[in-house]
Amino acid sequence: MRHTRIRGVGTYRPRRVVPNSEIVGRIDSTDEWIQTRSGIKTRRFAGDDETVQSMSVAASQVALERAGVSAYDIDCVIVATVSHLMQTPAVATLITEDLGATPAAAFDISAACAGFCYGLALASDMVRCETATNVLVIGVEKLSEITDPEDRGTAFIFADGAGAAVVGPSQQPGISPVVWGSDGSKYDYIRQIKSWDDVFTEDKPQWPNLHVAGNPVFRWASFEMAKVAKQALDLAEIGVEELDAFIPHQANMRITDAMARSLKLPDTVAIARDIADQGNTSAASVPLAMDRMLDEGAIKSGDRALLIAFGAGLAYAAQVVTIP
Ligand SMILES: CC(C)(COP(=O)(O)OP(=O)(O)OC[C@H]1O[C@@H](n2cnc3c(N)ncnc32)[C@H](O)[C@@H]1OP(=O)(O)O)[C@@H](O)C(=O)NCCC(=O)NCCS
Repeated sequence: MRHTRIRGVGTYRPRRVVPNSEIVGRIDSTDEWIQTRSGIKTRRFAGDDETVQSMSVAASQVALERAGVSAYDIDCVIVATVSHLMQTPAVATLITEDLGATPAAAFDISAACAGFCYGLALASDMVRCETATNVLVIGVEKLSEITDPEDRGTAFIFADGAGAAVVGPSQQPGISPVVWGSDGSKYDYIRQIKSWDDVFTEDKPQWPNLHVAGNPVFRWASFEMAKVAKQALDLAEIGVEELDAFIPHQANMRITDAMARSLKLPDTVAIARDIADQGNTSAASVPLAMDRMLDEGAIKSGDRALLIAFGAGLAYAAQVVTIP
């Protein structure tokens, strides 16, 4: 079977920057509390014209250009999202059409914050098995539409954005085998507060926003995910000292720090900290963080990065990739 790699990444950050000062009044909080507990200073909220579809197209156009791949050469488009509010058809088909990639195969996956790393694993396996030559993987969220601005546990965390990556064949291994899994016994930790059925039987219908059991999620992510990250390194047959970067899902800066400590990352490993300015964008957070590190020169093409993403389900995935 052939090897695979990420050929290019692209992102879209919504125009509106929202500082903590805009959030705190409705949740009886402070800028200091939010920064200390989560590391978030500002986040981006999408406007009406910045949709899951349009943000995905914008991010993908950059990824295609950087990869040097035309839309015509994309065989499959995978969109990881939980915030496209039309359950069917898949938004991936619309994005594929907008990009000029029709008749590429196109489908959505629902793996929440783990979605991008799930998509990357699927894409890599498709290319390895020659089911496809080039696969476009998109992680995109407009979480502001499904977040209650008065909920103390989520209003300051969630945000909007899109990231895309083109996966294609390679001479050298560029995407390691994935370590992934789920734990449905913790299904209630992060979920919509109600189903659409419930909404329509209410006297005063209320939007089915996301609910997060903050502290249990925090403890699970901080302790269990470091073990998954270690397994991914083992599967890739590299030690932490051979890593150039650690790019975890941007859930909370303290979760990132706890995992870095547990992995005993040397100072030479650059750590993604995109959450400070971008908030938690679920499926979009890993490619957004990777792209910022490339932009800022914290990583360069050819570097090796450990990716790990985790969230609702609970679902998780980790792999080692070569930076495009
Ligand atoms: C949400 C989160 C930042 C809260 O931090 P925490 O250290 O777990 O805080 P706790 O929930 O234990 O609450 C600690 C105190 O802060 C208070 N508090 C909770 N939310 C608050 C807020 N938004 N502003 C101010 N105070 C708040 C609590 O009332 C509690 O007060 P008390 O000590 O007087 O009882 C943290 O749990 C987290 O990030 N979890 C992961 C969430 C996430 O990213 N989910 C997405 C999927 S990965």
